[in-house]
Amino acid sequence: MAQTGNNIRLAGRLLLEGKLVAIPTETVYGLAANALNEQAVLKIFEAKNRPHFDPLIIHVHHIDALSKYTTLDDDRLKRLAETFWPGPLTLLLPKKATIPDLVSSGLPQVAVRIPNHDLTLALLKATNIPLAAPSANPFGYVSPTEPAHVQKQLGEKVDYILDGGVCSIGLESTIVGLEDGKICVFRLGGLALEKIEKICGPVEMRINNSSNPNAPGQLKSHYAPKKPLFIGDIDALAEVNSLNKLALLCFGNKDYSRHRHNLVFNLSKNGDLDEAAINLFKYLRLADDSDAELIICETLPEYGLGRAINDRLRRASAG
Ligand code: TXA
Ligand code: MG
Repeated sequence: MAQTGNNIRLAGRLLLEGKLVAIPTETVYGLAANALNEQAVLKIFEAKNRPHFDPLIIHVHHIDALSKYTTLDDDRLKRLAETFWPGPLTLLLPKKATIPDLVSSGLPQVAVRIPNHDLTLALLKATNIPLAAPSANPFGYVSPTEPAHVQKQLGEKVDYILDGGVCSIGLESTIVGLEDGKICVFRLGGLALEKIEKICGPVEMRINNSSNPNAPGQLKSHYAPKKPLFIGDIDALAEVNSLNKLALLCFGNKDYSRHRHNLVFNLSKNGDLDEAAINLFKYLRLADDSDAELIICETLPEYGLGRAINDRLRRASAG
């Protein structure tokens, strides 16, 4: 069991000693280490069982703290940073030599963001070091959105869990960068595409569906529960699998009473996609830990955070 609490001083001391601390952010919990300390960063890969070709995001507390580690000189990216930081936006920027190659898996760019969570911002400010932090889950599994999720899976491997409550967004950050001078989205996430395009015009999608090293964390089978997951129309899929005990993740205020012999989780009765994002990973975990044999989830509308939710479900699904 890892010690849990809201002691920023203790968390900061452990990080400066090269230890691992789970940190709260508005998106998901991160497994943090001092990004400037290669030995500490190695521990992240070990604890998560994460391949070294999958690069990490560094977290800083202020845009002025960036210049030691990277350059932000594209006007459009700057505007995105100024509009959405602190928040669920990660930028891919040229890496300076101060950041070990291990952090970026040898790539010339490093992923950076300013998370929007008071405790973690205070921690970053107090330590004045960049924190490398992937989501605090074993590689390939569903991301954690509350301290108990981290405790359950990585409690033996992390030195402290900074308890910042339940994540207010619940999906990993949206990753944006440049390719051939164009603004591209490399991972859908907690910042909706529509909001990005309002600031910088139409963007191109570079969302990978295979193990293309260009987007290493975008492996197809990712964010996955252990039980088989199917996505589509709940009623139709429940009918086909009627011999199994099912966990159903539904959405909206339709009548689900005919499924009462199954486990029913409603992502948002009001059909609110932001609320669905907050609940998604929690319900996937509950479904995975239940006595259901299969998990079935409704496909959500393809706008706002619905797009990122569907992306996660597709990567997690059995087919
Ligand atoms: O919301 C988030 O982004 C959370 C919180 C903790 O900040 N972090 C997170 O990290 O989701 P992680 O490691 O689970 O996903 C980061 C992904 C990588 O898997 C990879 O696809 C992409 O970011 N990435 C990181 N550095 C990159 C780089 N230099 N070039 C391309 N992709 C990169
Ligand atoms: Mg992750």
